[in-house]
Amino acid sequence: MLEIVGMIVCYCFLPMRFFAKRMIDFHCHILPAVDDGAVSIDESISMARSLSAFGYKTVCCTPHCIKGSYDITPQKVREATLMLQADLDNADVQLELWPGMEYMLDEHFSDYVDDLLTLGGTKLVLCQAPPRAHVDYILEGLRLIVEKGFVPFIAHPERSQYFYETLTERETWNRERDESKDQKTRDVKSRDEECQQRSRRFFKKFWPFAPKSSRSVSQESLMSASRGPRPAFPEGCHFHANLGSFTGFYGSQVQARAYEILKNSAYTGIASDLHNSASVVPVLQRDKLALNPLLKKLSDFNGVVSGINSTDDFNTAEQIGLF
Ligand SMILES: [Fe+2]
Repeated sequence: MLEIVGMIVCYCFLPMRFFAKRMIDFHCHILPAVDDGAVSIDESISMARSLSAFGYKTVCCTPHCIKGSYDITPQKVREATLMLQADLDNADVQLELWPGMEYMLDEHFSDYVDDLLTLGGTKLVLCQAPPRAHVDYILEGLRLIVEKGFVPFIAHPERSQYFYETLTERETWNRERDESKDQKTRDVKSRDEECQQRSRRFFKKFWPFAPKSSRSVSQESLMSASRGPRPAFPEGCHFHANLGSFTGFYGSQVQARAYEILKNSAYTGIASDLHNSASVVPVLQRDKLALNPLLKKLSDFNGVVSGINSTDDFNTAEQIGLF
């Protein structure tokens, strides 16, 4: 009986308390018939109901932008977002929609950089690496986004060999650096203590009023001495995990990688990346967020990165330039 009550608390009341903040889904293929996402308005509304019930207050409509496959312009996304918003309002679905795009970091990405569509009024540009991406194209795309004054928001690195390896190698490098720093600190302290003991013995022998103070170790010099190579991608990149990666929706390998990257604190946020109503049950599992503090923290991400952008002043369609 107690177990049943506990489950009810976990699945019903706990998520409600945890999701008290405005939760934003930064990645969702909810727009009807523009990419491989929702195929109809009915399916979009069904997905919206599920996302709202899950706890989302805002959802970014982020269709693919892939040359030759999904050639949709920012203006068309804005218009489609407005139309779906009207449909949701009519259907009494409590969900605010923001326009966005999911850019592919391939050889064609440079064609889009002069008219990038950010996520709502944030400076985040959602992008992903192609399955078999050439690293040079990925890095060039990220560099172009940064050059334009935007923030690359890289989708599901756990599903990209390049980003997974880069993130874990970077963390390995950090660990090695820290271990190296700790070892150097221990070595210097050891030598320092030995030197102090010798000095004390010497002064004690010949000068009974000798001071007992010791020289301090310069931590800054140790830090700079142990600083190694920097990550390959530009500074300022942020990453979001897919919720489905933690539920096993993409398989055990992606699931293991997602937890590994999570453990390394490399994610800034988490998103649904929902493509259809059939994926709702395997992807939108509330207990994953409610019972894991690290995932819960990621779900609180509101689009503000290093204080350079804010989600507080673009809550209406007029303010985010939909018209
Ligand atoms: Fe996506």
